[in-house]
Order: sequence, then C-alpha cells, then structure tokens
Amino acid sequence: MNPIDRGEQFGRKGEMMKEYRIAVVAGDGIGPEVMAECKKVLAAAAELDGGFRFEFTDFPWGCQYYLKTGQMMPEDGIETLRGYDAILLGAVGYPGVPDNISLRDLLIRIRHDFDQYINLRPVKLLKGADCPLKDVKTEDVNMTFIRENTEGEYSGQGAWLYKGQPNEVVIQDSVFSRKGTERVIRYAYELAKKEGKTLTSVSKANALNYSMVFWDQIFREVGQDYPEVETHSLLVDAASMFMVKDPARFQIVVTSNLFGDILTDLGAAIAGGMGLAAGANLNPERKFPSMFEPIHGSAPDIAGTQTANPLAAIWSASQLLDFFGHEDLGKKILDTMEEMLTNHRHALTPDQGGSATTSACGDAFVELLN
Ligand code: IPM
Ligand code: MG
Repeated sequence: MNPIDRGEQFGRKGEMMKEYRIAVVAGDGIGPEVMAECKKVLAAAAELDGGFRFEFTDFPWGCQYYLKTGQMMPEDGIETLRGYDAILLGAVGYPGVPDNISLRDLLIRIRHDFDQYINLRPVKLLKGADCPLKDVKTEDVNMTFIRENTEGEYSGQGAWLYKGQPNEVVIQDSVFSRKGTERVIRYAYELAKKEGKTLTSVSKANALNYSMVFWDQIFREVGQDYPEVETHSLLVDAASMFMVKDPARFQIVVTSNLFGDILTDLGAAIAGGMGLAAGANLNPERKFPSMFEPIHGSAPDIAGTQTANPLAAIWSASQLLDFFGHEDLGKKILDTMEEMLTNHRHALTPDQGGSATTSACGDAFVELLN
C-alpha cells in the first residue's frame, strides 16, 4: 500500500511521518474564530518538528446545527468522533438554545461517553500576564487543577416531581463511585509524585456528609501508596479564600466536578483572565480520544467581531502536544505566549490591551514561534 494511503509519509527526519487525526468541533459564538488560530499554531508546531503532521476534520455541530436538526450532533456523532486521535472543541452555547441542552448534549456528553475523567486545568500566571492580586509574583500562581470530569455533581441524575404544582420537588443527585473517585485522586497523586509537588484535596465534608466524607476517606486511603507526597486537605470555601490571599500554597489540586468548575474560573481570574484559560479533558488510558478546549465559552456578544482572544485556544493546543508526548513543543508554545505578553503586546487582542484582530494575533504568534 502506498504510505500516503496509510496516512503516513516520510518526514524531514527521514522517518515515517506520524499523522494525528484531529476532529475539530469549533461550535458556537467565538468558537470558530479561536479554533482557526489554534489549528494554525498546531500546523506550525508540526512543521517546526518535521516528524509529524495534523489532519483536521471539521464538524459543524453546535447550536446552529441544533436549530436546523433538533440535535446538537448527529445520532452517530460519538461513533464518528471515536475514530480520531483527539478532539479540539471551541465553545458551546448560544442564545435561543437552552444551555442545559446545548452543553449536556455536546460538551458534557463527550466528556462522559469518552470517559475523559481527568480535567486538567493549568492555573499558571504567565510572565507578562496581568494579575489582579496585590503583591503577587509570577511564580506564586502556578497550580495544576485536576478536576473530576465524569460524575460527581454533574452526574445528570435526579428527578423533577409534581412539575408546576405547589408541592413541586426537584432532586439533583451527586454520584461518587469508588472507582471514579479513586482514579482521579490516584492520577493527582501520581502527578504530584512525578513533579515533586504538594497535593491539595478540596472538598466539603463538614456539610456534605456522604459524598465529601467519602472523598476525604479515599484521599487518605490512596495517599497511603504515596508517602513521599506532601498533602493538604481544604474545605472549598476556605480554598477559594486562600487562592486569592495566598495562591502560592497551591501546587497540584484535586477536586470534584462542580468545585473544580468554580475554582478554575477563579483560577482563570487570578492568572490573566478567561482569555488565557485552557483545559484538557483526558482519557488517560487512551481508550477514547481526549478533548482540548479553551474554557471561556462562546461569548455571543463579541462573536464574529474578530476581537476574541485566541490565546486560551492556543494554550489548549500546547496541552494537546504535551498529551502526544511533544512536551518540547508544548513548552515552546507557552514560552511564545510569554514572549508575546511581555514584548509584543500590540499584537494581542483588545482584552489584553492590544489592538490586533483574532486572526492577526494568531499570525503574530506563528511568526514568533518559528
Ligand atoms: C467548563 C464550563 C462547563 C462546565 C459548562 C459550560 C457546562 O463551565 O468547562 O468549566 O461546567 O464544565
Ligand atoms: Mg466552567
């Protein structure tokens, strides 16, 4: 068979050229604008390396698709994505489609069905990025959040009884399985051990007398296998206060789905804003594709104006490269981001004080990367 038919070619290094097949779900609002820049940067990174390339396939799913078809993605959407090496997701949600439908049927569905149980979110203040906190040095804000990503408060289980009646009752169940809790906590311990960092577990056992007592117990149990890891346990309310007052105390943090959601927005706020925040939804076993996304959402108010900041999407590209073992390139992307934030501020988008369009910002990024 012709090597090109197998998706391979000889690269500059003279070896077979690896091809990563990436499904791109740009989605709604500013999603398509920032994804275009993310793809540009990934293509440039592959070109720099010379040993692999990306093949992108775009899927027009999201709220527009819903308004036409009544579904956020086709019936066999999950089956279709299953064959890819990774998924890039732009943003989901648009006025006219209830958020609980758009997000549960696309973003949360993919996280769940592909067992992407790790949501890895760096909360790292890059050099040159603005921090709203007083007297904080760049190195004081350098955390990695490991958010449980498939169950907990997002299980989607519950009931709505006597709808519309005076005795109406809603129940939203949190589900914490032993398997689900152990694996996310173990992943966090492994990372803390590998990186020689402290591990903080965030929970709320004083009020949530089943789920969070269980979480704390599993945190201690798994910890017996990692005597070398220094650990801390905080209540979520105290953790949010310390993130603002003393961010340097956090290194690796592990927490539940909802607490992780809330704390990582707080994290984004102290690490340069939502325009810089990215997240990786990982299936560590690689049985299913993992998904990489900026976490800022669809921002309908600025959609189509070319003012969206592409750096969060570009950071997610760096996470994708890390996941495929190209950490050198992942780091190069972060270094370039710091260089841009420090010395090329005019090439940034207006939210970062620059005057560039989304696409010009991406072009400037690629130029600096090369
Ligand atoms: C995030 C988002 C999503 C979440 C929403 C859009 C459902 O806020 O990725 O943090 O809560 O997980
Ligand atoms: Mg969120």
